[in-house]
Amino acid sequence: MRILAIETSCDETALAIVDGTGGLDNPRFTVVRSALYSQIETHAQYGGVFPAIAKREHALKFVPLLTELLAETASKDEQTAIASEAFNASQVDWHAIEELLAREPDLFAALKTYIETHGKPAVDMIAVTSGPGLEPALWVGINAARALSLLWNIPMLPVNHMEGHIASVLLENTKTTFPLIALLISGGHTEMVHVETWGTYKLIGQTKDDAIGEAYDKVARMLGFPYPGGPKIAALAARARSENLVDESISFPRPMLTTADFDFSLSGLKTAILYKVQSLGELTDELRMVIAREFEDAVTEVLVKKVTRALEAHNAHGLIVGGGVIANAHIRAALTTVAADTGVSLHIPTTALATDNAVMIAMAGYLRAQQETPSIAPKVRAQGNLALTSSQA
Ligand code: KG4
Ligand code: ZN
Repeated sequence: MRILAIETSCDETALAIVDGTGGLDNPRFTVVRSALYSQIETHAQYGGVFPAIAKREHALKFVPLLTELLAETASKDEQTAIASEAFNASQVDWHAIEELLAREPDLFAALKTYIETHGKPAVDMIAVTSGPGLEPALWVGINAARALSLLWNIPMLPVNHMEGHIASVLLENTKTTFPLIALLISGGHTEMVHVETWGTYKLIGQTKDDAIGEAYDKVARMLGFPYPGGPKIAALAARARSENLVDESISFPRPMLTTADFDFSLSGLKTAILYKVQSLGELTDELRMVIAREFEDAVTEVLVKKVTRALEAHNAHGLIVGGGVIANAHIRAALTTVAADTGVSLHIPTTALATDNAVMIAMAGYLRAQQETPSIAPKVRAQGNLALTSSQA
């Protein structure tokens, strides 16, 4: 099955063509081609991701990315792989398409030009993220997917973004014994999921307030660094460790460390740091390093404890870690140790597949297609808080 996937849930506009085979028992994937535009520099000017700006950028970049994805300048191999079919654009009901893209008039105009001058790619299904995420941003991908589904007569399926993060590990030859526990940590999510088999999930824990990446970014701002400051905090903490800097007066809480659930809370920790920073007044570089380290140690300690308990409580055989925060070397090393100590297999995607991308949406779409039947331009809604469990038994 060849899948065209579309991801616009946050600040990356991403497209991919992926081949899937093997069904739910033995899913295997090959990336034919992928294209991604990150809005991070646009949002950095504002200090965070604004939904209306994200939506505008998605609408602006969609057709250029589609053109890049299906480019005629692609290598010979890729051209054969994607293989366009002859397509008669004169038979299209442009009225219906214009209505579908009524809120994205510029996208409609660009798409019309594209469709009238290009063939139809030989794909079997379109997969699109329908949630969770920023609803204005999600709508752009959904409307574009429905338009392409209608135009090319290719069936489509909506995909849960979190199933995408779980499926992100499937590009490697993932040998697994179920059940697995998935820890998904990024600027937008902090969730723990019980994976019974591919396609069957249960959310067992999540943050009650901020996501981990969001907490890193907020602490970075308190210390005077621009968005997104997560990597800066990680670098300061690493230096504090290598220089063995300690300051007994800097210690922060480990929120929900001992509660019997698998939930997280980051806002109390963040507030404790804010009060500390305010009481200190002028910050030296050394203080910034010690604060960054103590914050990172607190977050890591809670993650390690909760993940260990989840693995044990659910007799899990493997640990999946996904989301942009896996770029953090300290957290990554700690979770690697957890997996080794509890004797479970560890599955971590490459950074390109850990941050938001369309390859993971294609893989999740393939898993979904083993359980649901795709159809032409179904009425899909953007669901900002879409639960992972909604489409499972
Ligand atoms: O998955 P991602 O690219 O975007 C979404 O949130 O969807 O994750 C980005 C988040 C940001 O909050 C960023 O500050 C954080 O991941 N991050 C890090 C590191 N690299 C990125 N946080 C801690 N340490 C890092 N090395
Ligand atoms: Zn994500």
